[in-house]
Amino acid sequence: MYFKETKGFPKDFLWGSASAAYQVEGGWDADGKGVSNWDQFVRIPGKTFKATTGDKAVDHYHRYKEDVKLMAEMGLKTYRFSIAWTRIYPNGNGEVNEKGLEFYDNLINELLKYGIEPMVTVYHWDMPQALEDQYHGWESRKIVDDYVNYATTLFKRYGDRVKYWITMNEQNIFTGHGWLEGMHPPGKVDDMKTFYQVNHHANIAHAKSVIALKELYPEAKVGASFAYSPSYAYDRKPENAMAKADYDDLQNYYWMDAYAYGRYPRAAIQYLKSLGCAPVFEEGDEALMKKAASLIDFMGVNYYQTCVVEFNDINGVGSDHTMNNTGKKGTAKVQGVPGLYKKPQNEFLPTTDWDWTIDPMGIRMCCREITSRYDLPIVISENGLGAFDKLEDGQIHDPYRIDYLKRHIEELKKACDDGCRVLAYCTWSYTDLLSWLNGYQKRYGFVYVDREEDENSGTLNRYKKDSYYWYKKVIETNGEEL
Ligand code: BG6
Repeated sequence: MYFKETKGFPKDFLWGSASAAYQVEGGWDADGKGVSNWDQFVRIPGKTFKATTGDKAVDHYHRYKEDVKLMAEMGLKTYRFSIAWTRIYPNGNGEVNEKGLEFYDNLINELLKYGIEPMVTVYHWDMPQALEDQYHGWESRKIVDDYVNYATTLFKRYGDRVKYWITMNEQNIFTGHGWLEGMHPPGKVDDMKTFYQVNHHANIAHAKSVIALKELYPEAKVGASFAYSPSYAYDRKPENAMAKADYDDLQNYYWMDAYAYGRYPRAAIQYLKSLGCAPVFEEGDEALMKKAASLIDFMGVNYYQTCVVEFNDINGVGSDHTMNNTGKKGTAKVQGVPGLYKKPQNEFLPTTDWDWTIDPMGIRMCCREITSRYDLPIVISENGLGAFDKLEDGQIHDPYRIDYLKRHIEELKKACDDGCRVLAYCTWSYTDLLSWLNGYQKRYGFVYVDREEDENSGTLNRYKKDSYYWYKKVIETNGEEL
């Protein structure tokens, strides 16, 4: 759509930034915290870039006051962070750890002191290892009760101060990397049947906790964050348009329909049935999913890139279970699903050093698609550029990040003009942090943290990047000065 004038961002727009517990906190065994699947996984040789861990991360656990002060100085309106399940329930279930609860009490109170709206992610991938040991975590239906118990503990403790809740971060990614690509715990490869069952368990856990939250706090705002990569058909060949339809049903609507409609796409289920991989429902699941769908308040979107979809012959390329985790541009390979689609590079768009396509217009497409298909408000819960940054004389010049964010915000503004109800925009990330598989060299923050891959490197001191001052201005002018 073209509009002569822009209405700009709504007055109460939440300009934010985001993080996740494992990636920033450190203090991996502090104050009674239990061991998570990630604490364990990173210790398997070859799983992460240069064997990096989140043991210390950027030490946010001990430096949260300094970090929040920097947020306040910047004028941040919301901070999205996740809670480490293992701080609250070291064994996943059973006895609660008061010290862990206190840490997040303090963090939330510190944010509120400066008028920063806390936005809490209940689950950002760090599953208590004890639950893996007890019943293989998400693979068992038992996870549903433990997840809901954990989530409800958070709702009861913090619900008086936290209005925005995100139940799951990128369910599509942690399950895909965990059961198909072998890159995340539990490190399984091509286990499609379990992958779909695990997702069903996660959907039921999400649904039950949404219902629990709304019973306790009907005014709370809740959704799940989906890693959304909108797709382009390779060209106008009908088989490529059909490949796009397959991709959308299996890679996008499969999750978003579950959250927003409480059901899976019909064609996807037919396909999964034909492979013997359709999820098994228990009695009442359908009703639970539908009820939760009627209660969610927004779709959370983590947007990084779009993709191109081309028909892939049954003998065509599959997945080789790799991605560019080194930052050596041009090393990512074309991946696909035989019989359905493959994803070649888009020659019209540039990429990052990690071969992620840079496509600002894609963020507007996310918003348009969600608005047309679900008519839900939208929280952009992540968007940002991973790059090599250099600290020189106490300064970090990151014009590439400013350019990336500026162009995405311009498109987001257009989405607002299109009538999409965008509530918040959270950049990824606030401080630099651990990139799960890419170590500390892939930086995303407005605040540089002095550390490298080596656990003993760096002072962990914080430095404001140029983008810090730039975003401050963006917030001050409500997105008018970019
Ligand atoms: C999202 C995750 O997938 O993208 C974050 O929610 C993650 O936790 C971010 O860090 C960037 O990905 P990466 O692999 O570059 O760290």
